[in-house]
Amino acid sequence: MSCEDFQLQKQGPIGIFDSGYGGLTVFSKIQERLPEYDFIYLGDNARAPYGPRSFEVVYQFTREAVLRLFHEGCQLVILACNTASAKALRTIQQQDLPQWDSARRVLGVIRPTTEIVDKISRTKHVGVVGTVGTISSKSYSMEIAKLFPHIQVTGEACPLWVPLVETGEYNSPGADYFVKQHLDRLFLKDPQIDTLILGCTHYPLLLDKIRRYTPTGVTLLPQGEYVAESLADYLMRHTEMDARLTKQSSRRFLTTESAEKFSEAAAIFLQAPITVERIVL
Ligand code: DGL
Repeated sequence: MSCEDFQLQKQGPIGIFDSGYGGLTVFSKIQERLPEYDFIYLGDNARAPYGPRSFEVVYQFTREAVLRLFHEGCQLVILACNTASAKALRTIQQQDLPQWDSARRVLGVIRPTTEIVDKISRTKHVGVVGTVGTISSKSYSMEIAKLFPHIQVTGEACPLWVPLVETGEYNSPGADYFVKQHLDRLFLKDPQIDTLILGCTHYPLLLDKIRRYTPTGVTLLPQGEYVAESLADYLMRHTEMDARLTKQSSRRFLTTESAEKFSEAAAIFLQAPITVERIVL
């Protein structure tokens, strides 16, 4: 289907994109907040993880996924993946969208999370943990500097945390070592941090361990709720977009890897069985 074909579709679901399963942590909060809307979730499991990949590759993969969701009728796509939000969102918004269909929208997860930090932090020292891609892009520091230049941001890349979740080891005693190691490094770099952004879809599953190794008094910010709240607010302010979104509480799940594997793993994130379709991007 060409762009001209999908430009004719004026109504459809909200698309949620992630490199794999992790975006389901964000999706579950969004569907709790906006239960009546239709959603299509797409996980690019065959090519995950995105965290260690270059800008060019993350952009190319994310672009393909967004195009696919547009072809499926989605009018609005949320990049639930931090790495994709950090490395691909801006180019898609500025270069691709105007050519594809200027009425559709693509939003990320970084902005909604940064908007709230000034209200929460007293010391004005904020920490961010994420994949190598997210931290090295400095997207969180740049977004926070635009909104709150007085806030100091320190990042720590935690490359082993995603594999711990993906392999189901996030509750194991072995996971403690790697969680503690990165948090110790972060708080050594800046002991005044009082607010910690969990800048990766998978980290809510490590929340108990992260809390255990974070100094007392530090507020942890998993993203799902903020992204969901910000999306609800966006739809209230953009009634023209809201009118394009269908609302029959339908859910579809697409993956580029095995449908069976996806539904098994999704149970960890959603605590409910789902039906999954395998697609090729
Ligand atoms: N979804 C990614 C993120 O939030 C983590 C998994 C990956 O590296 O692909 O950054």
